[in-house]
Amino acid sequence: MTIRIKARGGIYEVLKFAETIAMEHGLLTIEDNYAKLADESCKKLFSEYQIAVGSTGNLGLSIGIISAKLGFQVTVHMSHDAKAWKKQLLRDKGVTVIEYESDYSKAVEEGRKQAQQNPKCHFVDDENSVDLFAGYSVAALRLEKQLQDQDILVDANHPLFVYIPCGVGGAPGGIAFGLKMIFGENVHIFFGEPLQSPCMLLGLMTGLHDGISVNDIGLNNKTEADGLAVGRASKFVGKIMEPVLSGCYTVDDSFLFRSLKGMYEQENIFMEPSAHAGVFGPIQLISEGKQYLEENGLTSKMENATHLIWSTGGDMVPFEERKIYLEKNV
Ligand SMILES: Cc1ncc(COP(=O)(O)O)c(C=O)c1O
Repeated sequence: MTIRIKARGGIYEVLKFAETIAMEHGLLTIEDNYAKLADESCKKLFSEYQIAVGSTGNLGLSIGIISAKLGFQVTVHMSHDAKAWKKQLLRDKGVTVIEYESDYSKAVEEGRKQAQQNPKCHFVDDENSVDLFAGYSVAALRLEKQLQDQDILVDANHPLFVYIPCGVGGAPGGIAFGLKMIFGENVHIFFGEPLQSPCMLLGLMTGLHDGISVNDIGLNNKTEADGLAVGRASKFVGKIMEPVLSGCYTVDDSFLFRSLKGMYEQENIFMEPSAHAGVFGPIQLISEGKQYLEENGLTSKMENATHLIWSTGGDMVPFEERKIYLEKNV
């Protein structure tokens, strides 16, 4: 199974919280086998604690599943964009799902507010958490190994281009940060966002980060790419991205569905709509990015370049839902 982009950070943060309280209560030491976290004694302890998160869907899914498994009481605050099957799956696992009529930022704000009232509640903060960011960044180490295993060279004459879908910024930001630490100036990273939700692009272009929302420039933040339906970017991530990112681009929802269908028919790979924002990256670079390539002395190296599309998110989509996506008339 491919791991979801949001699961890597989410599962890491919950495991770290579980480790911390288990150690505080003398149920775990650094030398122990961490399978102990699944023992009844730990489960009993964790059941006294709450975990809360605000999400457009995918972070909630991973936090909900791992937290419930460990025995925590868990509440997921979901924005109206979150797909019905994601909410149902969580409820089936004993997770409390609170739905909001409003968008992602409101769901996070409400979740944070409610969590603050309970000292035994840990709020997984998608906009500001260093633990989440650290968890996401580990993906870069895994990618380095995969490239080595496939004898794919990355150096001054063999540039690596990476295209990652972006919502609030945490997951793509963590990955980008990790990749930059490893490959330095030989990696060129671009974030793809829906046409109506380019919050990171807007935050970076204006330098205002979370001080401006897509609604402020007349966009409606409506997209079928539920995980990317974010109107205001994370300032914490945006600031880190300033020297890291090569660029952002926007992508039309109709492309996401054309790409979804084409990828399935030609490669037999099913990815959810959000994940297809990455696929538009190379197309956009070749058609609109000539200046970037020239300014960075890359034009003559393009024959040796590797293009990597970050494409997780699809394994858990129910069969019926896949059918609807594949039959969509675009
Ligand atoms: C497939 C996919 N890519 C990227 C993202 C964006 O992550 P973030 O909101 O941390 O920017 C999501 C969000 O759920 C996603 O589902």
